[in-house]
Amino acid sequence: MIKIAEDELLAVRTTVNGREYKFSTEARISLADTLRYELGLTGTKVGCEHGVCGACTILVDGQPMRSCLMLGVQAEGHDIQTVEGLAQGLKLHPLQESFKRHHALQCGFCSAGMLATAQAILRDNPAPSRAEVREAIAGNLCRCTGYETIVDAICDPAIAEFARDEIND
Ligand code: FES
Ligand code: FES
Repeated sequence: MIKIAEDELLAVRTTVNGREYKFSTEARISLADTLRYELGLTGTKVGCEHGVCGACTILVDGQPMRSCLMLGVQAEGHDIQTVEGLAQGLKLHPLQESFKRHHALQCGFCSAGMLATAQAILRDNPAPSRAEVREAIAGNLCRCTGYETIVDAICDPAIAEFARDEIND
């Protein structure tokens, strides 16, 4: 096993799901792996590891980003949201409820990334058309659902109402 010298580690301070984290990491480790292995936030999934599948999508300062294309050290000073930040204890976030209601997931591997992208869509447009949703999730691949139920979940009228309330708060 290769041992990493203390002076090869870089200190990072970041906020994830409203909680401040301080840790030391190697410069070469991706943000996705940092979240999963350093912080134990395994809800973020890693598929292709080169920015194509969207499974690793998270929100960085509110913007959807591929966490496999960022380094952990680039989290410094940023506000990150992962899927673990959505539910309040056992109470699912309305978007998660909508995915559940519409059967918008099967294996669930794409779901964390889909939810992050959906949050970003709805923040900009609380009532997107089906075509707009399809375009926005075009970078998130799902091998199971055929996408139709995911579009149903994001276009649910209850979600539009929730998104409008969020904007008006
Ligand atoms: S794992 Fe990051 S885009 Fe596929
Ligand atoms: S639910 Fe399996 S990849 Fe989307």
